[in-house]
Amino acid sequence: MAERFTITTPIYYPNDRLHIGHAYTTVAADALARYHRLRGEDVFFVTGTDEHGQKIEERAQKAGKTPLAYVDEIVSDIRDLWQLLQISYDDFIRTTEPRHERVVQEIFRKLEASGDIYLSQYEGWYCTPCESFWVEGKLVDGNCPTCGGPVSRLNEESYFFRLSRYAKPLLQHIDSHPDFIQPTSRRNEMVSFIRQGLEDISVSRTSFRWGIELPQDPRHIAYVWIDALTNYITACGYLQDDQRFARFWPADVHLVGKEIVRFHAIIWPAILLALGLPLPKVVYGHGWLLLGEQKMSKSRGNVIDPRQLVQRYGRDAVRYYLLREVPFGADGNYTEDALVLRTNVDLANDLGNLLSRTTAMIERFSDGLVPRPSGRSVLRPVAEEAVRKAADHLDRLQVSDAVVAVFELVRRANKYIEEAAPWQLNRTGDPRLADVLYDLAESLRVIAVLLKPFLVDAPHAIYRQLGLDNADATRLHDAAWGGLPPGTRVQRGEPIFPRIDQHLVTAAAAPEGEAQESAEIAIDDFARLDLRVGTVLAAQKVKGADRLLQLTVDLGEAEPRTIVSGIAEHYLPEALPGTQVVIVANLHPAKIRGIVSRGMILAGEAESGLQIISPREALPPGTKIR
Ligand code: MSP
Repeated sequence: MAERFTITTPIYYPNDRLHIGHAYTTVAADALARYHRLRGEDVFFVTGTDEHGQKIEERAQKAGKTPLAYVDEIVSDIRDLWQLLQISYDDFIRTTEPRHERVVQEIFRKLEASGDIYLSQYEGWYCTPCESFWVEGKLVDGNCPTCGGPVSRLNEESYFFRLSRYAKPLLQHIDSHPDFIQPTSRRNEMVSFIRQGLEDISVSRTSFRWGIELPQDPRHIAYVWIDALTNYITACGYLQDDQRFARFWPADVHLVGKEIVRFHAIIWPAILLALGLPLPKVVYGHGWLLLGEQKMSKSRGNVIDPRQLVQRYGRDAVRYYLLREVPFGADGNYTEDALVLRTNVDLANDLGNLLSRTTAMIERFSDGLVPRPSGRSVLRPVAEEAVRKAADHLDRLQVSDAVVAVFELVRRANKYIEEAAPWQLNRTGDPRLADVLYDLAESLRVIAVLLKPFLVDAPHAIYRQLGLDNADATRLHDAAWGGLPPGTRVQRGEPIFPRIDQHLVTAAAAPEGEAQESAEIAIDDFARLDLRVGTVLAAQKVKGADRLLQLTVDLGEAEPRTIVSGIAEHYLPEALPGTQVVIVANLHPAKIRGIVSRGMILAGEAESGLQIISPREALPPGTKIR
């Protein structure tokens, strides 16, 4: 039987519309689920909603609805969002479903029988937005340590879970399973948290009604964490279908935001230990998407709606941005400009152009048919390396690195077009033309397979344009070199990622200037221009200026030159080193944003965006242009 892979997202609170921060976790989990399906594994990918609790009860009341009617609407909206983003979940669990209520009640019975819960008085502090209880000592300046907001005093009867019992077994487990909590920084945080000692936690409430009644004491309802965390085993079939449960539990990965790692890496495993169940293999706490230094969150009101972004830019662009932009695990700033830049540079320019140039050349130079290669290949080792690296990164949950590995192949293939100059090979009737064209088309096919975990439309489009049937690429081993049959007729189509006009985004439509007729000049006028070839050594963004890049350019002089150029919306700094450019070398130096710029880079602007002017073949830096 195929190996199985179980992955979960947190179950989201349906107290408001979800924002792009929630989409971030879900798209990442989806990429991992799709990757494991590509590996031929039997994947169980579960997401869902965490529907009980005081906050939802209050919101529903305000809206004049029953809690269930209230959450029903939001849940249906959440499902629509996942549909829009093509989230390939296998199960969507709602904590209000009878299957879950039964499991929670049974768990309470079991925990009482094993002496893991007991009735006592809860005294402490409660943060309503975070639905978290805190003992005095954990507050920060008297406020909630998670959100910094005010907390209220509570004193009520409650059932307690003996978390304190499990500090030692947990530390032992973490110690003997180095991969259990990832990344390492979160593991270290958890270890020091547990070492400070664990206190028993309150697991029931009597102050509101919207929850699952405890079978042994119906005055109490299950408090959020036992109710919520147990969703994972309900979905896997616990106490419902032993065979299914044995197959899909323990989960391979619980993917969660870093603020709930504590619940997943401490409370949840302790509950599982108490129930005598195996622990999840990995709890991965990823970072936050920030909006101007702050966590995006509904309570702060600084949220971005993923639906709007999909409408504007397409779901692949949004998925790509979420998966690629921020190194997975770290926090990262969200900006729409960065999304547009990523789409334009990586998807439209690099990937889109590779496809359109390749299919166009096959049409022009090979009657539209993929040629038969001689067996000599320049890109094959690069493609094989990309497959290896992407798989390796995904095996280690390094989603953004995996995307980067695929795009290394895209960039190398584009560069190969310049190096191999198929148009010249065609002109001279050079037989190497077949090898070059095959290399390019086959690389694109490999790229399409490798992109399958991340993008949902583009891989199909690439296959279609290569003249292939997408149904032939369902496994990672389809990325093995040589799968493209010579003689296949390519089907050139529309650009897969049209460039986004940045001006539409910022809505800064400049007034249309009148076309300026240029006055004629004499040859001496031209001779006054010192135009030279340079090679970019380094490039970086200019702080506080969206359009500017600071370049270090080798002009064959004793010292490289610093040049500030307005190309930041068209080129990523990391893509520039090694690029040859044409410089106006005798331009009077100018101070731009405090940087002295010595020279200007030549570029042409087409509708499709800005193109730096480069010599067709490499020229020594400093070569004068006449
Ligand atoms: N219901 C609990 C989770 C229970 S799991 C048994 C909950 N729900 S939530 O709706 O608030 O979703 C929190 C999760 O959404 C985070 O853990 C994270 O996965 C995701 N994110 C919400 N905002 C986010 C960002 N700004 N950035 C990244 N992820 C974010 O907590």
